[in-house]
Amino acid sequence: MIAREIKPGILSLSAIDWDRRIFDQLVPLPEGTTYNSYLVRGSEKTALIDTVYAPFTVEYLETLKQAGLRKLDYIIANHGEQDHSGSIPAVLALYPEAKVVTNTHCRGLIADALPVPDDRFIEVNDGDTLPLGNKTLQFFLTPWVHWPDTMVTYLAEDKILFTCDFLGSHLASSELYALDEARVEAAAKRYYAEIMMPFRMFIQKHLIKLAPLKIDLIAPGHGPVYSRPEFILDLYRRWASDEPLKQVVIPYVSMYGNTLQMVDYLVDRLTELDLFVMPFNMIGGDTGKLANTLVEASTVVFASSAVLAGPHPDIVGAAYLMNALRPKARFASVIGSYGWGGNIVSKKIVELLQGLKTQLRFFDPVLVKGLPKEEDFKALDCLAEAISAANQAMEKPAGQ
Ligand code: FEO
Repeated sequence: MIAREIKPGILSLSAIDWDRRIFDQLVPLPEGTTYNSYLVRGSEKTALIDTVYAPFTVEYLETLKQAGLRKLDYIIANHGEQDHSGSIPAVLALYPEAKVVTNTHCRGLIADALPVPDDRFIEVNDGDTLPLGNKTLQFFLTPWVHWPDTMVTYLAEDKILFTCDFLGSHLASSELYALDEARVEAAAKRYYAEIMMPFRMFIQKHLIKLAPLKIDLIAPGHGPVYSRPEFILDLYRRWASDEPLKQVVIPYVSMYGNTLQMVDYLVDRLTELDLFVMPFNMIGGDTGKLANTLVEASTVVFASSAVLAGPHPDIVGAAYLMNALRPKARFASVIGSYGWGGNIVSKKIVELLQGLKTQLRFFDPVLVKGLPKEEDFKALDCLAEAISAANQAMEKPAGQ
């Protein structure tokens, strides 16, 4: 680990986890990740902004020593999850004068998980400031990006916003800045899909709240620093908006090829109708990639062979994931083939999407016995037409 200056008196210390492949035993990390901490030296006081994941503590402390840090006054904890707070106890042990500065909620989460004594905390509220001499930190509570405790820290004199999880990316890279924007956009979108999407409505509010700040750099807790803040802010405004794109996601499982015939046919019809279609085979599929496809899609069609009269378990997983991630999709349907008693396939999927029932309009399912026949393909034609018409209508202003 090395310390690198991002502005005079401000160092980035980034633990690069090249090999990590899953986060929280839940989120696939095809490109690893980083845990970013920042050291801010004011003329009177010095603060660390977040720490790093505990397995990197030894090299993190060594890097702080190499940076000449003899006395530390504050550790700002923007978020209690241990990929950022894990090294706090070791830092407190090394710097006995240091206090953990955070909000009430985050304090509770850290105290529950880590051996940090009560007298080592200082609590702050929304808008509070912490002077460091010639630099001033200001805290803004931004709950639910990712947990209810999350906040961001603004360094007014240098126009840097330290955002911890918010606006980050799971991308192991030695590049300090997000210069390869195409690569960073892909990683940031996957990160948004997997972690931030359920909190889209909070994100909309946070973006408005933070809009008055003048920002030169956005320094997140994961992934590269943004030297062009509008790059990631524009993406978040788009992803978190209420407006989906004319995109159709089709998570599918086909056991004997009948359902796949229906998927292929529907993909062709939708493509002819000028919709962007993303079929996604759930067998061995990457759930992060599925989440990614849901970020801006207007429509999701679940395609499943029947298993014991219900949907295939991997389609159950896809519907459960969609319900949990709360994408902005507006339309849904179910297609598939069954041997006997398959009508319950659709009922089960609708039940799994209960959290989205007020926003989703369901089109009639197309469920066929065995091989799809002429009338079944006609039913798929009708489904494609209905999806197309609904997507075209989305573009019209309200009241027309
Ligand atoms: Fe990067 Fe919610 O922790």
